[in-house]
Amino acid sequence: MEEDTKITEITEAPSDSTYILKPEIIQCNNLSKEYEIGDFIVKALDSVTFDIYRGEIVVFQGASGAGKSTLLSIIGGLDTPTDGSVMIEWVRISDLSEESMSIFRVGTIGFIFQNYNLISSLTAEENISFPMQLAQVEIPIQEGRVKKLLEKIGLQERGEHLPFQLSAGEQQRVGIARAFANNPSIILADEPTANLDKKTSQQIADLLVEMNKEGKTIIVASHDDLIINQAHRVFTIEDGKITSEKKLKDPPKIEDSPIPENYLPCQNCERYLPPGTKSCGFCGVIQLVKE
Ligand SMILES: Nc1ncnc2c1ncn2[C@@H]1O[C@H](COP(=O)(O)OP(=O)(O)O)[C@@H](O)[C@H]1O
Ligand SMILES: [Mg+2]
Repeated sequence: MEEDTKITEITEAPSDSTYILKPEIIQCNNLSKEYEIGDFIVKALDSVTFDIYRGEIVVFQGASGAGKSTLLSIIGGLDTPTDGSVMIEWVRISDLSEESMSIFRVGTIGFIFQNYNLISSLTAEENISFPMQLAQVEIPIQEGRVKKLLEKIGLQERGEHLPFQLSAGEQQRVGIARAFANNPSIILADEPTANLDKKTSQQIADLLVEMNKEGKTIIVASHDDLIINQAHRVFTIEDGKITSEKKLKDPPKIEDSPIPENYLPCQNCERYLPPGTKSCGFCGVIQLVKE
């Protein structure tokens, strides 16, 4: 599939952020995912429809096997739905080529996993740098960001430690720093505190809230009350269906949302688009993208 166009200059952004940022940062429409195992079909997701607003913390709770991880993987473009669509910003992610999707993902979405998923042969610093290497961030900028992130997670003295030299909670804090490395707009966290004690879980919840205050949209699969208490909305998912939605707080005001620094304005309509986007989902114009 060939849809790449080359760069030129970038237009000046209009100052009114309500116009250029979309309040619904994620829109899932009729998402279904079926797995075929022999003659048996598992409906991991069954026609799920919802919007996530920019700057929210949204928790999906539900029993094991309910479909939470499947949902996060599909939103993050790691897996594809059998039916339905995911829009992130103005982009229908199924329209992205594989290459565009990986650029889009690296710059727009950070993942936090239940088992931390750190690379065991890399130090804490190197693990945090890893997504920046994928995004080809210049080395001095990487080093500066790693230092800041280590301070944020309170592990400035532990940057050269390997994962096995860190406690579970410390490993998860490194996992969080890594998720935030490229300053993504969206964080997907799959049961981030499931293996942690209460005190450490509270640290993780506090870090998520702090990042949320900086404008990140955070989606968490969790049963943990420490996380649920921080949510704007909580969805319950059962057998692949959303069975309840509870609003705990108003979503942040769109005017308060910063324009993500790695987004580029559409050359035609000036709506802001994440990295990797090659055609504007709002006006349909092919983008001239930054090299
Ligand atoms: N790769 C797969 N192949 C077959 N079935 C799967 C696969 N991944 C998940 N499932 C099934 O889909 C359902 C939802 O799984 P999952 O999304 O992991 O739930 P949760 O994260 O809520 O525990 C389960 O029944 C699970 O067994
Ligand atoms: Mg799961």
